[in-house]
Amino acid sequence: MTDTPSLLAAAHRRQGTALPVWFMRQAGRSLPEYRAVREGIAMLDSCRRPDLVTEITLQPVRRHDVDAAIFFSDIMVPLAAAGVDLEIKSGVGPVITEPIRTARQIHELPELDPAAIPDIAEAIRAIRAELPAHKALIGFAGAPFTLASYLVEGGPSRDYARTKALMAGEPMLWDELCARLARISATFLRVQVDAGAQAVQLFDSWAGSLAPYDYATRVQPHSTAVLSRVADVPRIHFGVGTGELLRLMGAAGADVVGVDWRVPLDHATKRIGPDRAVQGNLDPALLSAPWEVVAERARDVIRAGAAAPGHIFNLGHGVPATADPDVLTRLVALVHEEGPALRAE
Ligand code: CP3
Repeated sequence: MTDTPSLLAAAHRRQGTALPVWFMRQAGRSLPEYRAVREGIAMLDSCRRPDLVTEITLQPVRRHDVDAAIFFSDIMVPLAAAGVDLEIKSGVGPVITEPIRTARQIHELPELDPAAIPDIAEAIRAIRAELPAHKALIGFAGAPFTLASYLVEGGPSRDYARTKALMAGEPMLWDELCARLARISATFLRVQVDAGAQAVQLFDSWAGSLAPYDYATRVQPHSTAVLSRVADVPRIHFGVGTGELLRLMGAAGADVVGVDWRVPLDHATKRIGPDRAVQGNLDPALLSAPWEVVAERARDVIRAGAAAPGHIFNLGHGVPATADPDVLTRLVALVHEEGPALRAE
């Protein structure tokens, strides 16, 4: 066994038979040990405490034996650190005190000074020091479109109406907003990579709400700007409901395209092309099905993923807060035990 994390080999399309597995939102409310350490501490405050961030990041690695840790933070942390007034409300999501309604607010959006987030680098170093060498540490950030959607809507949204109105009606202003957000996200990622994160995931969670034309002209260039700043590590790019955007999201500068549960991974690979790995994509809702159903559907995901030049097993989106952690632990064991043979079929 080598010390090269299997996740990095898969991202570089030098996978062999090993099948790496981790879960989006593996750290979080599905774990009683997470709920215990977060008791009485606001989400954004917890993200700025290296001791807590280290503990929470490592919890799912200890419990499930996943092949990667994802840095415990939030896509809104760099915005808050830059000085944007916001809150993360449990069960709701990010809420912005003064949503963007004027050009002036866009011109005055603050920059993120790396010196404002020494705790992020400190936490990354502490995690890397404790994480076994064969497990990868993934850093992450939000992509400009998804961040802009929160800033413009003021919180979670169903239709992104104001965001799309700005994009279509004031394209120059939109591009300025996204260029600023791209710089903030790139700084956040750079700090993580410079401190020891070995791969990054750029979350454009809500990009699937866009038509390909709007994505290609007004969103992809800004995501490319972010991803090009961390070209020294493997880059995973993920969004929900992005079946029609998969090729564009890969072309944005990703080594690995994250796929939700709606598109089987062999189809996804045809759409993305032969030069990128895939990540995904068991439907998180299936975690509450009887174990034999979970197992069969996981095997289907593994077989379909074998069509790609690299496969990192994951869910199609985050672990639900109500998920039974024991099912996740069993799933990791199944991927490790059965993955190599299923991939060779
Ligand atoms: O384990 C991991 O995946 C790492 C930690 C992580 C969090 N947020 C912790 C978190 C990551 C990668 C994120 C990214 C994030 N944050 C995204 C992109 C990922 C995705 O889900 O598509 C988005 C859209 C956000 C914004 C956000 N923050 C939402 C929608 C929520 C959920 C609100 C809720 O309570 O349901 C948050 C809060 C949040 N971020 C929690 C966690 C563990 C829950 C906070 C809590 O414990 O109450």
